Amino acid sequence: MTAQPPSNAVTHHYQQGDLHQRIDDALDRLYPGRSSLTADELHGVDEFHIGGHAATRQITEHLRLRPGMRVLDVGSGLGGPARHLVQQADVDVTGVDLTAEYVAVARRLTDRVGLAGRSRFMHGDVTELAFPTGNFDRAWMLHVGMNVADKSRLFNGIGRVLTVDGLFIVYDVMLLGDPSLLSYPLPWASEPSHSFIARPEQYRASLSDAGFEIVAEHDRRSQGIRSLRGLRTADAHHEGSAPQGPGASDARPASVNVAMGADASAKIANVLRHMEDGLLAPTELVCRLR
Ligand SMILES: C[S@@+](CC[C@H](N)C(=O)[O-])C[C@H]1O[C@@H](n2cnc3c(N)ncnc32)[C@H](O)[C@@H]1O
Repeated sequence: MTAQPPSNAVTHHYQQGDLHQRIDDALDRLYPGRSSLTADELHGVDEFHIGGHAATRQITEHLRLRPGMRVLDVGSGLGGPARHLVQQADVDVTGVDLTAEYVAVARRLTDRVGLAGRSRFMHGDVTELAFPTGNFDRAWMLHVGMNVADKSRLFNGIGRVLTVDGLFIVYDVMLLGDPSLLSYPLPWASEPSHSFIARPEQYRASLSDAGFEIVAEHDRRSQGIRSLRGLRTADAHHEGSAPQGPGASDARPASVNVAMGADASAKIANVLRHMEDGLLAPTELVCRLR
C-alpha cells in the first residue's frame, strides 16, 4: 500500500489565506453593487474541475437523484457542485474537504445564497470517512482522486457509507501516457510529490476491489479541451467584465482561476497541453455497488 501524502502538502497546495477576499473581489467585479446573489451567479467562481458548470450539470443527470436523497460530495472544494445538487434536485448534501479554507469559503458562499439548510460542509480527510454505514444514497467525487495515494482505501470507505443500491460517480483527471512527461504546476499539484494521478485501469481495479461495478464510462477530453481554451481566452480578453450570453458561465473572467491562485495560467496551460497531447483525460466513471 502506498503511503498517504502528508495532508499538509495537499492543503498547502490549495490554501491561499485570503480566498474569502479574493472571491468577494471577483464577485464585486462581476456584479458591481450587488449584495445578494443566487447560487447560479456563483458559477464560474465556485467549481474547481475541468468543464466547470457544464460538466457539473451533465454529471448530475447521471446521479439519478430524487428529492430528499442524501448525497455525499467527496472533496467538496468551494461547494459549487453541492449547491447545484441542492438547487437542482432538492436533495440534502454533505461535503467533506481537507482544506480548511475551502470549507470556510463553502459555508460562507452557501449562507450568502440561502442554501445552508440543505447542505453542510465538513473539514476532514475523505480516506477516513466517519459516517455510519449506509448513510448516503449517492456520492460523487469531482477532481479529487489525483490527490489521493490510496484509492482502494478511499473507494472502500465510500462503498461502506453508501446504501446497497447507491450510486457513486468519479470524475477525475486520469493518466493515459508516460507520467515522466508531466509538467508542473498542474491544477491539483504544484509538484509531483502530492500528485497521485492514476490510469483508468487502476481506477477500475480499485473500484472493483471495493465492490463497485462500473456501469458507464465517459471520456470528457474533447469537452474539457474546449472548456479550458474558452477559460484562457476569456481571461486574456475580458478581464474584469461580466459574462455575456448563454453558456458564458464556463468562460467567466472571474473564474476558477481565483481558486487556483497566482500561477493559475501556468496550471491551465500545462493541463490543457497534456490533454491536447493525449497524456491526460478527464474521465467520468459511473459506479454502483455489486
Ligand atoms: C480540484 S479541487 C475540486 C473541488 C470540488 N470537487 C469541485 O469540483 O469544485 C480538489 C479538492 O479536493 C480536496 N482534497 C484533496 N485530497 C483530499 C482528501 N484526502 N480529503 C478531503 N479532501 C481532499 C482539496 O482540498 C480540494 O478542495
